[in-house]
Amino acid sequence: MSGEHKGGLEDVVVSTSDVCFIDGDEGRLVYRGYDVNELVEHSSFEEVVYLLWHGGLPSRKELDAHRKALAATANRKLPPKLLGILRALPKRTSPMEVLRTGVSALSAFDPDAADNSREATLRKSIRLTARLPTLVAAWERIRRGKAPVAPNPRLGLAANFLATLSGTRPSPLAVKTFDVGLILHADHEFNASTFAARVTAATMSDVHSAITSAIGALKGPLHGGANEQVMRMVERIGTPARAEGWIRQALADKARIMGFGHRVYRVEDPRAKHLRRLATELGRQTGDTSDVEILDIVARIVSGDKRLFPNVDFYSGAAYASMGIPTDQFTPVFAMSRVAGWTAHVLEQHANNRLIRPRSDYTGPTHLAYVPLDRR
Ligand code: CMC
Repeated sequence: MSGEHKGGLEDVVVSTSDVCFIDGDEGRLVYRGYDVNELVEHSSFEEVVYLLWHGGLPSRKELDAHRKALAATANRKLPPKLLGILRALPKRTSPMEVLRTGVSALSAFDPDAADNSREATLRKSIRLTARLPTLVAAWERIRRGKAPVAPNPRLGLAANFLATLSGTRPSPLAVKTFDVGLILHADHEFNASTFAARVTAATMSDVHSAITSAIGALKGPLHGGANEQVMRMVERIGTPARAEGWIRQALADKARIMGFGHRVYRVEDPRAKHLRRLATELGRQTGDTSDVEILDIVARIVSGDKRLFPNVDFYSGAAYASMGIPTDQFTPVFAMSRVAGWTAHVLEQHANNRLIRPRSDYTGPTHLAYVPLDRR
């Protein structure tokens, strides 16, 4: 078997999907028919989750019920034994490893674990979307030797997460910014982690297994892990005055610059401009815009030099840092949002399933004669 392929499944269409559309030439991102710019302006993360799962916008009654389910303490609270598992982990464990372990362990406590019906997968998707923020915040508290903060069912997902992470009430601007960040990260067609989720779901495995696969794929620096690496770059650069020299040297060294480039977009990622604006507003509120100034200089030089544009991971970290979110929690925060898309794709995969099983173009030998051990 042999054939032309570019590697990395580039431009390969794997299946049809109604969940998400990307126009890489126009820089458009569309969830279930709605442009993400519209959703950023008018919607909330909770509503976007409903849209992704159910395929249309909810009525007021449907949205109220959906919000209540996502905020219910029964759905947000972690089983005490799971907290015991987190406490048993070495404090140096990275938050993405903790999230992967936590989600995998959650299935052991889920009453619907073995049920792959649409109704059960929706119930599990509500619990996963509600619990991921609790897991992320709980690990932050545990590794700092503090007690996890109980979720507050009167707060929406963004406000509740920020409150449980820090133990203090977040500013309205922080809540709004975080919510927009969640909307922007909620889905992105057949990206690597979503594809991993769909491959797992396509064996008729369960949603917890699919999300555990997805978290493993998101962790890498070529995917979700890039947001953390962008912030490490900002830390290494240090001040806006050093940015130009640093990035010119990195380009001369042919380094891969994190937060730039995309497999699908040929123009700027439509999510980046929102995150830049929000990071700037938050920086102004906290009185420190130096991270965004550094990023702007880096963006100007890299796009001028290489015609590579910032992607979603470029400005998100500067916004998160202004809210007091630690750098190694940026990718778990990405997962807290993308779980909405991952679960929507698992539902879609299960609804019209066929095992995903591609072929490889074998390039090794085929007729070697076996050599006994004592003659090698
Ligand atoms: N810095 C420097 N050069 C780059 C970059 C970059 N960030 N991205 C692409 N290039 C160059 C690359 O060196 C190659 O050049 P040449 O053809 O001369 O060898 C060319 O552009 C094509 O790159 P590629 O790696 O073959 O492209 P890809 O489609 O396989 O990779 C990517 C896409 C996102 C992995 C890549 O652009 C990258 O590594 N970016 C940095 C990591 C990053 O920001 N990842 C987040 C992606 S978006 C959100 C998400 O998924 O989480």
